[in-house]
This record gives sequence, structure tokens and C-alpha cells, in this order.
Amino acid sequence: MSNKNILKDNVGKKAADLIKDGQIVGLGTGSTTHYFIRHLGERIKNEDLNILGIPTSYQSLIIAREAGINTTTLDEYDIDIAVDGADEVNQNLDLIKGGGAAHTLEKLVDSSAKEFVVIVDDSKMVRDLGEFPVPVEIIPEALRVVKKSLIDMGGKPELRMGVQKDGPVITDNGNFILDTKFEKIRNPQKLEKELNILPGVLENGIFTDLVDKVIVGSPSGIKEIDR
Ligand code: A5P
Repeated sequence: MSNKNILKDNVGKKAADLIKDGQIVGLGTGSTTHYFIRHLGERIKNEDLNILGIPTSYQSLIIAREAGINTTTLDEYDIDIAVDGADEVNQNLDLIKGGGAAHTLEKLVDSSAKEFVVIVDDSKMVRDLGEFPVPVEIIPEALRVVKKSLIDMGGKPELRMGVQKDGPVITDNGNFILDTKFEKIRNPQKLEKELNILPGVLENGIFTDLVDKVIVGSPSGIKEIDR
């Protein structure tokens, strides 16, 4: 395992240890959450726990199934605790998410949870958000119009393209992603709202005022930051 993956594994395990029997758990998306879901699956098996997961993407649904975690939906249950990764975390515990194009369902699940825990390695901790471009999910018909609005707002939008697919990335919801670089984001709350009122935008990857705890893995150990 690479050094970075060891850190991801450590924080994934730490978060899995927080989960209590009987809880409904939001399952985030990404390489760090992957470790969390696997550790949670092991605990369920070893301790015979009664836990249901609510996945935030097809990826987390598939990993949950492989890990032996039964899943349900937000239509059926409220969420006790959600655990998710992030692409950037600032000192105020605001986030940029959506590097895996799953931020729309992640925001719904994470914001519905009674407790929201973020797991990251220390490379994700920043002073100001914005080095990582903000993923903006748009309906395909809105491409030209929203791109122009984002440029007018000072952003540099780029349509996310597939790696093992020709053409644009299509999200789990059938939409496009405009990765939009802004200079340092001084007021994430304001930008999050301004992006979401553009017609044709489904959701953007700035998450503000949601996080209860961040678990940070570094070579010197694990640090927990509570709001
Ligand atoms: C998924 O769309 C994202 O929000 C991920 O949670 C985020 O990109 C973190 O992913 P990693 O844990 O793979 O860095």
C-alpha cells in the first residue's frame, strides 16, 4: 500500500469505529471512503451489527454490496451519521467535493445526516478553498449558457472529459460537470449560493456549515477536528 493509501486506510478505520449498532449510515464516495466502507463491512460481520448504509453513488453502492453492507434509501430512513471524503478542507471546515462527480447526492446525504464526519489525508487541508476547481453539475442543455455565467463570475470553467470514454463525463444523474477554477475563494458560503441559483445548475461542490468533525491522517498520526 502506498503511504497515502495507508493514511486513507487509517482514517477510514477510525471513522468505522465511530459507528454504533442500529445506525443508518451515509456512505460517501471516493478512494478514502472506500476504506471506510470496507472497515465498516468488517465490523458488521465480526460484531454482528445491525446497520444499514445509504450510498452516495453507484461506486459506494457497489463497494457496500461487496463489503456485505445492506443498503436503503433516504425515502425510507433518516441518517444518523454520514462519513465522506473531501478534495479540500479549510480552517472553517468548509469543503470542496465532487472530484468523483458525486457531490450532488453527497450533499443531499451528508446534509441530511444528524452527524457529518469528513475523512481526509493531510494533503487536503488548506488555508483558502480554490486551488481545486469547483465541480458544478449542470444539465447538458445548459452547457453554453452556464459556462458564460461562470466566466462572468470570474471562473474558468472546463467541461470534465472522460478518461476511458470519449466525450464528456456523464454523472450518475445523467449530467455534465464544469470544473471551475476560481482564484482564492474568500467567501465560500456566498459562492455556493450564487452558483446554485444559476438556471441549469443542479449542485456545486462547495459544502459550507455542514461538517461536525474532520478526521485528518498524517504520517505523525490521526487528528480529530470538531466544529
Ligand atoms: C466524490 O465526488 C468526491 O466528493 C470525493 O468525496 C472527494 O473527491 C474525495 O475523494 P478521495 O477520497 O478519492 O480523494
